[in-house]
Amino acid sequence: MHIVVVGLSHRTAPVEVREQLSIPDSSIEDSLVSLKNSSEILEVSILSTCNRLEIYSLVKDLNIGLSSIKEFLSTYSNLKTDELEPHLFDFRQEDAVLHLMKVSAGLDSLVLGEGQILSQVKKMMRLGQDFHSTGPILNRLLTQSISAGKKVRSETNLGTGAVSISSAAVELAQLKIGQSKGVDNLVSLKSENVLVVGAGRMSKLLITHLQAKGCEKLTLLNRNIDRAKSLAKDFPDLEIIPECLTLLDKNIELSTLVFTSTASDKPFIDLLRLNSLNINSLIRFIDIGVPRNITNDVKENNFVESYDVDDLQEVVSRNQEFRKKIAKEAESLIKDEKALFLEWWASLEAVPVINKLRSDLEIIRKEELQKALSRMGPDFSARERKVVEALTKGIINKILHTPVTKLRSPQSRQERQASLKIVEKLFSLNDDEL
Ligand SMILES: NC(=O)c1ccc[n+]([C@@H]2O[C@H](COP(=O)([O-])OP(=O)(O)OC[C@H]3O[C@@H](n4cnc5c(N)ncnc54)[C@H](OP(=O)(O)O)[C@@H]3O)[C@@H](O)[C@H]2O)c1
Repeated sequence: MHIVVVGLSHRTAPVEVREQLSIPDSSIEDSLVSLKNSSEILEVSILSTCNRLEIYSLVKDLNIGLSSIKEFLSTYSNLKTDELEPHLFDFRQEDAVLHLMKVSAGLDSLVLGEGQILSQVKKMMRLGQDFHSTGPILNRLLTQSISAGKKVRSETNLGTGAVSISSAAVELAQLKIGQSKGVDNLVSLKSENVLVVGAGRMSKLLITHLQAKGCEKLTLLNRNIDRAKSLAKDFPDLEIIPECLTLLDKNIELSTLVFTSTASDKPFIDLLRLNSLNINSLIRFIDIGVPRNITNDVKENNFVESYDVDDLQEVVSRNQEFRKKIAKEAESLIKDEKALFLEWWASLEAVPVINKLRSDLEIIRKEELQKALSRMGPDFSARERKVVEALTKGIINKILHTPVTKLRSPQSRQERQASLKIVEKLFSLNDDEL
């Protein structure tokens, strides 16, 4: 059995490719079922976020397992394998374990140490359990990775004041406005006419950062107006006008800065739409949706500047030096967690031999007990029979305790295999049955 991960992320694929491989929550169950249909895949779990799609799996054969997952990705995205392949990465065994732990700790995120990823890994584990696609190995790996992520955040400063995609988006706006004014500092957003489209988790974070950067008033559009109204109430010190998404055109015309962060699976702002509006001064659009909410062609409109998640790299790299140092510290914590998982996994190798040894001894115990009891005849009371039965079980357990503990304890693979061979030979444990 091998643990593998196949995927793509902001490091390997541009947003145009990532958005074709974004698996929404509503399709996770079907995707897990389809992957599990392959006889090669024993356990599987999917991590789908705006910056990555990763499929973790326990496979029987390494190469066949990897091909099955790649085939699934190609079918799902409608991209041919050779188009997709250059954007994919895969890791096997301990590299796959290490990768998940790094991801969980935010060490592989666009914004180093960002916090959302930990809850996304927790969700990945919950979905795997709900849809019965994970089993003992992946569940243990996911649990240990979540604990690695928590440890890094509690034992290092990586998460302190951590920036997120949303804060990076607001910073990008400040940077671009500043650059257009010839200022290098991050400018206040007080004089901008701000529009936020979407009222989910990301929009809430966007508004928090907008407020921190001087914004005093904004319009919030959402498909479901009640959700926009409810989000507006979370910001009593900010003037928020909640409106329905149907009023998008009018609100774009009134804005200078537009953020989009909806989970729409198709873009709803394109060049055609913007060209039909009455726009005669510059509007900056920042789209953090994946799939994107705004098409790339809007840049052809002379009054439009438009940025997507991949453009956030510009502000992110300005802030990363300090975090990179802490990330080094975090990596040593992660290596310890990885070692713990691998030790546990290696100890499973002893399980079939231990189980066989136990069941062989149990057969002997029962046979010998039966002989003894029949010799004792009817004089032996039910209570006495129970005592003798418990005695025989106790003896077997006591004898097994030390060798079983030794077989499961941390040691090199060679050492464990050598001990297992000796036990198999001495007790004539049949290889086929194991
Ligand atoms: N979560 C993250 O860490 C993260 C980070 C960066 C980027 N993103 C991206 O940001 C976007 C929003 O994520 P989120 O976590 O904020 O999602 P969320 O909390 O689930 O909120 C989803 C939002 O999208 C709206 N929406 C869904 N389908 C829509 C459609 N067809 N047309 C118009 N609006 C629609 C919803 O409106 P209703 O209330 O009317 O349903 C709601 O406002 C996603 O594209 C995501 O990939 C997420």
